Amino acid sequence: MTARTSQEVVRIADGVSVPLIGFGTWELNRDDAYSGVRAALDIGYRHIDTATAYENEDAVGKAVRDSGVGRENVFITTKCPPSYVGREAETIDASLKALGVDFVDLWLVHWPPNRQASPDTWKAFIEALEQGKTRSIGVSNYSIAQIDELITATGRAPALNQIPWNPFTFDAQEVADLQSRQVVLEGYSPLKRSDLGNPVLAEIAAAHGKTAAQVILRWHAEHGFVVIPRSKRRERIEENFAIFDFELTQEELGRIDALGA
Ligand SMILES: NC(=O)c1ccc[n+]([C@@H]2O[C@H](COP(=O)([O-])OP(=O)(O)OC[C@H]3O[C@@H](n4cnc5c(N)ncnc54)[C@H](OP(=O)(O)O)[C@@H]3O)[C@@H](O)[C@H]2O)c1
Repeated sequence: MTARTSQEVVRIADGVSVPLIGFGTWELNRDDAYSGVRAALDIGYRHIDTATAYENEDAVGKAVRDSGVGRENVFITTKCPPSYVGREAETIDASLKALGVDFVDLWLVHWPPNRQASPDTWKAFIEALEQGKTRSIGVSNYSIAQIDELITATGRAPALNQIPWNPFTFDAQEVADLQSRQVVLEGYSPLKRSDLGNPVLAEIAAAHGKTAAQVILRWHAEHGFVVIPRSKRRERIEENFAIFDFELTQEELGRIDALGA
């Protein structure tokens, strides 16, 4: 995939499309989450990532409403904490209430509960999907073996797996394993866990008049990895979205992939 526009989407299960780049909100308190989401929507992001555990769903929901961008034009992800197993239905109802929405676009199992795949939790997720409380369901921090366990137990694969991902952890086998199960890869902590001073990234960034952060995010986009960078600062929220006016060459993509070797 070569992402050419800022509104590029990736198709996930059930005919749902997720915008390739989203705005992450982990560690943003309510005020920063509100101003960050307002800035992101103003700049053009149409995908916001939150979680019950981030304790900012109410601020995220208010920012979406106040933005003037229609609810139907914003893709909202939230997540169920692993410690809430057995209380999945209450948890999504609380998320919907805090966000002030009738449904979310994607609901994720935040971590494997007790480090287990937990098919019962997945069954509760399927129920929430069938009840229209979420348009799609997925997991986060799951291994391929755990995903297979869910598929074996229910016949339904997660639409997406949200995992730590950046050029330095790039793993072609993981990409192939997810692809063969039709599970879309969504990367988190793309910048924080990267070496932004790496000379390969610096050289490629200089060749395009971009920053190393933008090269990393563009690398995600070109591979079709959904990515959700986070910043408190408007100028960086803007910088992280300004990745659709340049393309990486095949040679550059290969050099960046090799950072994960
Ligand atoms: N599912 C999970 O378990 C999980 C775990 C972690 C994260 N996530 C999700 O993924 C999102 C992104 O991951 P993350 O927040 O861990 O990390 P990240 O987006 O990789 O990095 C955020 C950090 O990088 C800085 N930054 C942002 N843009 C920058 C730029 N252009 N140049 C240099 N520094 C920049 C930010 O500082 P400033 O704010 O000062 O700009 C912040 O300290 C989260 O917000 C959350 O939504 C999910």
